[in-house]
Amino acid sequence: MSQDSVSVLDAALTCPMHELHPMHPELLKRPWAMNRRLRDEAPIYQDPQSGIFFVSRYDDVVKMAMDPANFSSVMLKPTRAMGASQDPELVAILKEGYPTVATMLTQDPPLQRRYRKFVDGAFSPSSLKALEPFIENTANALIDDMIKDGECEFLSAFGVPLPLRVIVSQLGAPMSDLHLFRKWTEAFIGNLSQQLDAEGIRESARGMVEFQHYFVERIAERRADPKDDILSKIVNASIDGEQPLSIEECLSMISQILVAGNETTSASITEGIWLLIENPQEYEKLKRDPSPEMISNFVEEVLRISSPSSNMFRRSVHEVEWHGVVIPKDAILFARFASANQDERRFPEPSRFDISRPNLKEQVAFGKGVHHCLGAALSRREMNIGFKVIFERLQNFRLSEGASAPEFAANALLHGVEGLHVSFDPA
Ligand code: HEM
Repeated sequence: MSQDSVSVLDAALTCPMHELHPMHPELLKRPWAMNRRLRDEAPIYQDPQSGIFFVSRYDDVVKMAMDPANFSSVMLKPTRAMGASQDPELVAILKEGYPTVATMLTQDPPLQRRYRKFVDGAFSPSSLKALEPFIENTANALIDDMIKDGECEFLSAFGVPLPLRVIVSQLGAPMSDLHLFRKWTEAFIGNLSQQLDAEGIRESARGMVEFQHYFVERIAERRADPKDDILSKIVNASIDGEQPLSIEECLSMISQILVAGNETTSASITEGIWLLIENPQEYEKLKRDPSPEMISNFVEEVLRISSPSSNMFRRSVHEVEWHGVVIPKDAILFARFASANQDERRFPEPSRFDISRPNLKEQVAFGKGVHHCLGAALSRREMNIGFKVIFERLQNFRLSEGASAPEFAANALLHGVEGLHVSFDPA
C-alpha cells in the first residue's frame, strides 16, 4: 500500500464526519475501518459528493431489504454511468443496441416477482443437482492445467473460469466464446464501478451492444430448438398463460445473470484461498476435517467476510427520519451488505475469520427479502464443490515468492481482489 493510500485511510477515521468521502477509490478498496466508524457514529450517512445515503448497520440493512414498499429498487434517474451520461458519441453507440428494461434487480414487486417466476425453474434444486457433475469436472480440469506448475495467479486460473464456464454452458454458448463473456462482464462491471472516464464508458457501451446482438441470435436459436439449459428455460417460459418474455426483457435478465453470477462468485472463491493463507489455524481445521459440513461452514464465513456484492441501490419512496437523519422522498440509498456482515452488533469480532461461528448462516452476502439472490444456491454449489476439489488435490497454499497481499478493486457496488499469486503442493 502506498503512503498516499495509508493517509486517505487514516484521514477517514479522524476527519470531521461531514468531510468523509466514502466513495474515494482508496476507501472503496479498503472500506473496513471506515465502515466501523460509520456503523458507530453515523449509521445513516449522506455522502457529501454523490448525495447517496449510506445505511451501514446489519439490522438497518435487513430492514430496508425486507421493505420494498418503502425502499424501492426502481430508480427514477439513471444511477449507472452509461444511463447518466449525455455524451453524443455514447448515445450513438447505444442506438445500435436494444433499449434496457427494468427486470428483477431493478424492479419492485409485483413485477419483480413476475420476472423471478420466469427464471425460478431454471434455478430449481433439480436443475442445479443436474449441474453438479459439470461443476466438479470443470474444477478438476482447471486444476489439471495448473497443478504441475506449483503456482498460479488464482483469480484467473480458477476463480474466474469456474463460474464463467458454468454460466456460459448454461447460457447456451460454446466454450470457444468464453473470452467474449469475460469482455462483456468487464463492460457491465465498468458501468457499475462509477470510476470510468468518458472513453471508458463508451468502451463499456460497445461491449454491451455487442453482447445484445450476440444474445438476440442465441435467443432465436433456443426458441426454435430448445435445449436442456438455463437460456432455453428463460426464453421459452410462459407463466400463467402469459406471453413469453420479450427480447428486451430476456436481454436484461441474461445480463443480470451474467454480471451477478460471474464476478461475485469469482471474488469469493479467490478471497477464500487468501483467507486460508491469512488464517492458518482455520486452514488446519479444514485439513483435519474436510467434511461437506465443514466446507459448507467455511463457504458461509468466506461469503460473510468477502461480501462481493457490497452495496446495492434503493430509493426512498417517502420522506423518512432514521437515526435522527431526515432522508427526503426519492433519495438514493445504499443497502450496504458488506458492512452489515461486519457489524459487531451481530458478529462479535467481525474481522476475525472463524469457520466455527455459531451464527454463520445469518450472513447476508446474498441479500434478503424479495431480491434475495437468484443464484445463491448455484453459487453455493460452485463454491462447495470447487473447494472440495481444491482440498482433495492441492495443499499448503501460500503467497508465491515475492508476491504481496492482494489488492482490491475500486468499485462502488462490487468488492473483490484484483489477483492472488499463490504457490501450492499436490495433495
Ligand atoms: C457469491 C456470489 C453472489 C453474491 C454475493 C450475490 C449477491 C447478491 C445480492 C446481495 C443480491 C440482492 C440485491 C438486492 O437486494 O438489491 C443478489 C441478487 C441477484 N443475484 Fe446474486 N449473488 C451471487 C451470485 C449470483 C449468481 C451465481 C447468479 C446467477 C447465476 C446471481 C444472480 C442474481 C440475480 C438475477 C439477482 C436479482 C434478483 C432479484 O432482484 O430478484 N447471483 N445477488
